[in-house]
Amino acid sequence: NIDVSTLVDSDGGLIDRSIYTETSIYAQEQRRIFARSWLFLAHTSQFKKPGDFFTTFMGEDPIIVTMDKTKTIRAYLNSCRHRGVRLCRADAGATKMFTCTYHGWSFDLAGALQSVPNEKAYPEDFDRKQWGLIEVPNVQSYKGLIFGNWDKDAQSLEENLGDMRYYMDAMLDRDPEGTEVMGGVMKWTLEGNWKLAAEQFATDWYHVNMSHASALMVLSPTGRGPKAEIAATPGRQFGSENGHGAGFPTHPKSRFDARPVHEYYDYEALRERLGDAAVEGPMTTGHATVFPNFSYLPVNGSIRVWHPKGPDKMEVWAWVLVDKSMPDEVKDAQRLYNLRTFGPSGIFEADDGENWSEIQAISHGFVTNNVPLNFQMGIGSERNDGTYPGQTSELYSDAAGRAFYRHWSKQMNTPAWHERTEQA
Ligand code: FES
Repeated sequence: NIDVSTLVDSDGGLIDRSIYTETSIYAQEQRRIFARSWLFLAHTSQFKKPGDFFTTFMGEDPIIVTMDKTKTIRAYLNSCRHRGVRLCRADAGATKMFTCTYHGWSFDLAGALQSVPNEKAYPEDFDRKQWGLIEVPNVQSYKGLIFGNWDKDAQSLEENLGDMRYYMDAMLDRDPEGTEVMGGVMKWTLEGNWKLAAEQFATDWYHVNMSHASALMVLSPTGRGPKAEIAATPGRQFGSENGHGAGFPTHPKSRFDARPVHEYYDYEALRERLGDAAVEGPMTTGHATVFPNFSYLPVNGSIRVWHPKGPDKMEVWAWVLVDKSMPDEVKDAQRLYNLRTFGPSGIFEADDGENWSEIQAISHGFVTNNVPLNFQMGIGSERNDGTYPGQTSELYSDAAGRAFYRHWSKQMNTPAWHERTEQA
């Protein structure tokens, strides 16, 4: 294991860019970040009846998420216990059994090995009970979002989210009926380390004016774009000791950008339900990251995972999220607005992906890799402002980025559950 404390100075706001490129650091992340953190798996609305399943990843580990006969959501390593073939190759569907295409071992919805062709050829003491699917021991959900953790003794999901729940509620709890995902999952690949995206969604409002300048001009009624207005926009940025981050402009007349969505909402009722500060803050055009790799945009109705695919590559998986009670035409307006802005070819999405790829493409140079990156904006400004929970700073700040890397660094330097078990 590499001691990353010399690579991340989260108090001083300096980051060594080798954390984006080094293969050995990437491998350590698989062990000490992805094998021990709460990772987003799926949305509860993807499972309606026993046997419904969805396949995803936790880090680079392939996962089947399914609803068992008792309607409990369970998650298994998507790898046959016999010779390791990917057991379920479909993205999603419904089944009674997961049957391996190589030699035909079959596993039920509870992960138990139920059938082995030519079982009599195995030794007498062959015990099917010993060869069930490897189960993710900890699966919990928060307001429709299902997360899994390989650490059975991890602090609960809600505890881990802590104050972040308040910021998430501005998206997840607008409707007493909750949320649902619409359509399938959009997936695309980007050249770039997964942290470039996760950190940006946690902390980086600074890029909006420059990176998205042309998109903002297109959307602006004057054609000039709201550049000056944005630069002067007040707002807050939340950073958590567990690495989560959320940034949002604050505005007394917060509104949704898609007109049918805006007209649908009863803002007074929302204020009563969530409080004025939530409606005027985290329910606006902000973005956020739940450490390590789940991010969302409340106004755009986008939830997404940045799946790591090697140090230089990530796969983006994005869902459209809507309130359950919305009429169909409002849901559709939200979906279209999502696609136009943050779909795979959305006008904002394309800007971000290009920046991350441009960072990654040059990061393997020896000298390049030895020049630190700057995360010093708003240093020392974190405080509890009495309005928003936890430690917050000005909107234009790297505070949540420093919090993200402080937690990343701590996790990378602390033995995980599998190492503690090995030592015991
Ligand atoms: Fe699955 Fe052989 S690898 S049955």
